[in-house]
Order: sequence, then structure tokens, then C-alpha cells
Amino acid sequence: MECISSPSNWAGAREAGHVPVMLEEMVNAVAVDRNGDYVDATFGRGGHARHLLARLSTTAKLLVIDRDADAVATARQLACQDSRVRVGHGRFGALREHLDDGAWGRQSGVMLDVGVSSPQIDDSARGFSFDHAGPLDMRMDRRDQLTAATWLNGAPQTEIADVIRRFGEERYASRLAKRIVASRPLQTTTDLKAVVAATLASSRSRAAAGAYARVFQAVRIRVNDELAELDRGLDAAFGALKVGGRVAVITFHSLEHRLVRQRFRRWVEGPALPRRLPVTDAARPVARRVDTVGKGVRPSDAERDANPRARSALLQAVEKTTERDP
Ligand SMILES: C[S@@+](CC[C@H](N)C(=O)[O-])C[C@H]1O[C@@H](n2cnc3c(N)ncnc32)[C@H](O)[C@@H]1O
Repeated sequence: MECISSPSNWAGAREAGHVPVMLEEMVNAVAVDRNGDYVDATFGRGGHARHLLARLSTTAKLLVIDRDADAVATARQLACQDSRVRVGHGRFGALREHLDDGAWGRQSGVMLDVGVSSPQIDDSARGFSFDHAGPLDMRMDRRDQLTAATWLNGAPQTEIADVIRRFGEERYASRLAKRIVASRPLQTTTDLKAVVAATLASSRSRAAAGAYARVFQAVRIRVNDELAELDRGLDAAFGALKVGGRVAVITFHSLEHRLVRQRFRRWVEGPALPRRLPVTDAARPVARRVDTVGKGVRPSDAERDANPRARSALLQAVEKTTERDP
């Protein structure tokens, strides 16, 4: 591919429209070896990746992955400029397919900064935002078949209610699902917003913006299978590590926070067993918490003020302590 010049530090990511969240904290959590091999499983516009590269030696390696073609195009430009970088287009749940056989179990660190990027949200053609009129798409990877419109116009009412309730934690999920089905076909973000507004008006709720956010989040999580992906991604990230390697994850809402917290607790404490059973190797911990992160850190007040997207962020990290599988 043709290499064009692009900024080589994290300011480049900001110019490209994405301000990385908890940049120092994330990189501090994983950068254990300046000569090591690393993965940034959610490249976005490369803010975390560039900052990590600046800490590493010339012999280090960094595999960067994203399921979004625009992010991958930016990553390929970075790879043109920096021979330590390799690029994978796909899901982090399939991380193993992107690593050479010899590299599996040899990584010093894996970073995951999940959810959507600012360029995805700000592009009205992607359909992620209720603030921009556009098609109901919401696919992070536009090679996938399922769009928000296909799902909303085809799924049974009970499934739509379930998704809005579970992934949006929205109390009017059943009423919303009923009205969505009655209003089909929905084609645009404006159509979905109008359904939410009409449902809330009849439910006498005042919190319209909160409800738009919850419904759009729920549909996005469903379309991109985000929680199952995170579940697979955590296992893949841990499997890719060598002993002493670390996985650090930034999540943006309570469902993701909980999934990571529970998985990390199991690795750090070992699985919960009935008291009288003897403790076998399989029940012993396989990880420890990273000191700088403890049970999780939030962005500073200054970062939250400067970057509204950071407000709900939580960073959690663990270090692998044994070769044994979790
Ligand atoms: C919050 S942004 C990451 C921003 C990045 N850390 C930076 O500093 O620019 C999340 C990115 O992860 C990607 N992503 C989300 N889920 C993914 C998955 N399951 N597999 C691969 N990429 C994913 C999105 O396409 C998006 O580009």
C-alpha cells in the first residue's frame, strides 16, 4: 500500500478526532518490558498504540487490531512508518488468528479500550449517534451482514424488549419494543429517536436524552455482539500473555465493567469452590492485580472535565503469574 505521512505521536490521534482515555494509566499498566511484544486490540486512531511505542525499544513488536476499516487504514499508515507495527483487521475475540503460532503465550501486554471511537460516533453515515441523522447502520465492521435496521425490522418484539432491557438497562423496554414493531420499517436514526420520544411522551418520562442514549447503546451492543466479544477477547488476551505479561482493559458502561471485574476476580482469587473440597492446582489463582491499578481506576477530574467521553471509563488490569490455564 502507499504510505502517506501522518503524525507519529498521540497528538496524531487527537487530530484524527479521537482523544485517548486514561493514556498514561493504560500504558503504565502494560509496559513491563521495553523489548517485549505487545498487542493493541482496539487500535481506533492509535492514541494508546503510539504512546506505548514511544516507551519501547527498536526490537519490540506491536500487533494492532481493529474491526473497523477506517481504523485499520490509519494503522496501516503507522505500520508504514514504524517497522515494529503489524496490523490485523478483525475482532479481538479472534486474536489468536492474528498472532503467529510462536507468538501465542509470549506477549508482554495486551490493551483493550472497548466500545466505539469518536470518529465512528461523529460520522453520521455510521448511524451510531442519536445526535446525527443517518442510516440505522451501527456496524463497527461494515463487512458484517447485520445492521441496526436489519435487526430492528426483523427481530421478534420479545427479543427487542430483552435487548433494550439488558443492554440498555431501560425501564420502558417493553413499551419501546412494542412501538418499534408497530412503527416498522425503521430506516434512520431519526426514525428510532422518534419512536423513543413518542414512547416516553406516553409514559410521562422527562429524561429523553438518557433514554435515547440507553436505546442506541443497547442496539449497538446487539448489532456488534459486544459483550460476547469482550468475553472472548478477555480469554484470548490472557492466553496470549507470557508469565509476567499484563492485560489492561478500559470499559465504558456497567455491563462491561462487571464482566471484566468478575473475570479478573476469578483469575486473581481462583474459582469459588465449596469449602470442604481440597484445593487442587486447578483452583489456584493464575493472576495478580497490577499495583498501579488495584481493583480499577477512573479518569482524573481534569480528564473528565476535558473529555466527556472519559466520564464513565474504568481501567482494570491483571498480571499473569503462572503458565497454567485459568
Ligand atoms: C474506544 S476506541 C479505541 C481508541 C484507541 N485506544 C485510541 O487511542 O485511538 C475502540 C475501537 O475498538 C474497536 N473495536 C471495538 N470492538 C472490537 C472488537 N471486538 N474487535 C476489534 N476491534 C474492536 C472499534 O472499532 C474502535 O475503533
